[in-house]
Amino acid sequence: MRTVSPSTLTETLLGLSSADTDPRVQEVLGALVRHLHAFAKEVGLTHAEWRKGLELLTRAGEITDDDRNEFVLFSDVLGLSSLVDMINSPAGCTSSSVLGPFHQLGAPEVPVGGDLIGTNEGDQVVVEGTVRDQSGAPISGAVIELWQTAENGLYSGQDPRQEHYNLRMSMTTGADGRYAVSTVRPAPYMVPTDGPVGDILRATGRHAWRPSHLHFIVQAKGFRTLVTEVFPSDDPYLDEDAVFGVRSDLVMEYRPGNRAELAQDIVARDRLNDSFSKVDFDFVLPPG
Ligand code: BEZ
Ligand code: FE
Repeated sequence: MRTVSPSTLTETLLGLSSADTDPRVQEVLGALVRHLHAFAKEVGLTHAEWRKGLELLTRAGEITDDDRNEFVLFSDVLGLSSLVDMINSPAGCTSSSVLGPFHQLGAPEVPVGGDLIGTNEGDQVVVEGTVRDQSGAPISGAVIELWQTAENGLYSGQDPRQEHYNLRMSMTTGADGRYAVSTVRPAPYMVPTDGPVGDILRATGRHAWRPSHLHFIVQAKGFRTLVTEVFPSDDPYLDEDAVFGVRSDLVMEYRPGNRAELAQDIVARDRLNDSFSKVDFDFVLPPG
């Protein structure tokens, strides 16, 4: 190795793996090393810049705890999370999108047609649709989790004024594959900018806004679990999501609601105000 040079170091390092290295580990780590070295050569990385990068990662570690993972946020704002989602989303199914940091396990089970509005202020909306397989057949027994911000752009868990599971639910489809829930419109919000990710956004002149969205996880036996989000077509940040989560098939329309057209099982039917909206959104799951 005394003769190692910028032109031989990459191949020298890759040659160190033992014969019994898992082939996929070899492929992934090998490509990572090649791209990392090529990146340093391409930009002529200085010692100061290399140190700055390591400082960012160190601060990411320091700010990360059980409730916040700055490394995931790095991956999100650099587009890696969405790239991984897109290259792993099978065609003909609902696209997946980022999980985000605000999912909580154990949200209460709500029957189909149930209500999340409760005492929440904000524009009311009934969201309804069907979980289907790729042939269009409804999936019975699919479990749908939904979580979202309140009107103030905060999730329960971020906002001490909201109850623990406010605007969160789990719902199981019947034989018709249908889900339906009354809720309030979520609001756009900013990803956290008080850590190193915020420094990167500011250094590159980017804003931290995400368009408003409903988060969903849809799981059913025999199908791949879908982690996704659904975005309203009229959101001002739809084409500038800080974490690149929007896909064209994940855009929904808020249409003016008509009480007379609501199904009988919508429990908030007679309590909804006259300006409520309706959203229809179906999920298509790939086979597991
Ligand atoms: C969210 O949608 O909750 C989210 C996603 C990525 C980063 C921050 C927040
Ligand atoms: Fe979110």
